[in-house]
Amino acid sequence: MNNKKIVVHAPATVANMVCGFDILGFAVNDPYDIMSISFSDHAGITIINEDEYNLPTNPEKNVAGAALLALMEEAPEVKGFELRIKKQIKPGSGVGSSAASSAGAVVAANALLNNKFSKEDLVRFAMNGEKLASGVKHADNIAPCIYGGVTLIRSIFPLDIVQLNAPTLYVTIVHPQIEVRTADARSILKQQIQLKDAIKQWGNIAGLVAGLQKEDYDLIGRSLEDVLIEPIRSILIPGFDLVKQKSKEAAALGGGISGSGPSIFMLSKSESTAKEVEQVMHEVFENIGLAHHTYVTTINQHGVKIIS
Ligand code: HSE
Repeated sequence: MNNKKIVVHAPATVANMVCGFDILGFAVNDPYDIMSISFSDHAGITIINEDEYNLPTNPEKNVAGAALLALMEEAPEVKGFELRIKKQIKPGSGVGSSAASSAGAVVAANALLNNKFSKEDLVRFAMNGEKLASGVKHADNIAPCIYGGVTLIRSIFPLDIVQLNAPTLYVTIVHPQIEVRTADARSILKQQIQLKDAIKQWGNIAGLVAGLQKEDYDLIGRSLEDVLIEPIRSILIPGFDLVKQKSKEAAALGGGISGSGPSIFMLSKSESTAKEVEQVMHEVFENIGLAHHTYVTTINQHGVKIIS
């Protein structure tokens, strides 16, 4: 048996990017999960957790396992994998924890297999992890996690992933220590929308994509508006409106709920603004007495990184 071992860092991601529900997302440099994979003589997938989260080790119930099982269906030469996971992205935080596990696992496995699969194949496999986590195959965390930068998922079936320009942007994230399950945050959404709201939303999506391509920061800021999802989901996040208002007063370009929450992210043009925004976030959550973690980071341009 080939006893090669691949170690990867799988980054956190911010899905939706405010107006692009299920179609836009970007990767960040911090936090990230550390994972390693090797071939195993035991048939199937052996998962070893090296963190405190007690996630399932049954591959059918583990998002990384579900992604690897999908890959193995198209790699019949593989008898088994041993996967070690050290999560640093807290599950249920809204910054793509399940996507990092799924994407990290398949990128690492693909490196063991001498890059048998394309990135698009890997997204397809990893989406099985998202299906397990949230009940739906969505790629707005998986695609940026694998490709890096900002990605547009123009279509899921068939997959059509477009890498967008990612200008220099600083990202401040606050993770209030409450858990919002993606499946729950999806189940409360309206299934029908009004045409006038749709018009606003697609104006913002087009504006955001144009702003990214042209590196027009004002246009990016103006387009970070969500009239469909945020008004419903923000009710689940104490302090949300105040964080948004005060972050903008501190000169953030804008931001909103990260994925399905509870994390909130803000984009800024400079590191000093991003740090002021972090301060504002601390103040809001200290005032309401809610434990929280913050990150000041940047857009990750490379996606899952093979370390060794
Ligand atoms: N687009 C998904 C949602 C991302 O908002 O439900 C979940 O992380």
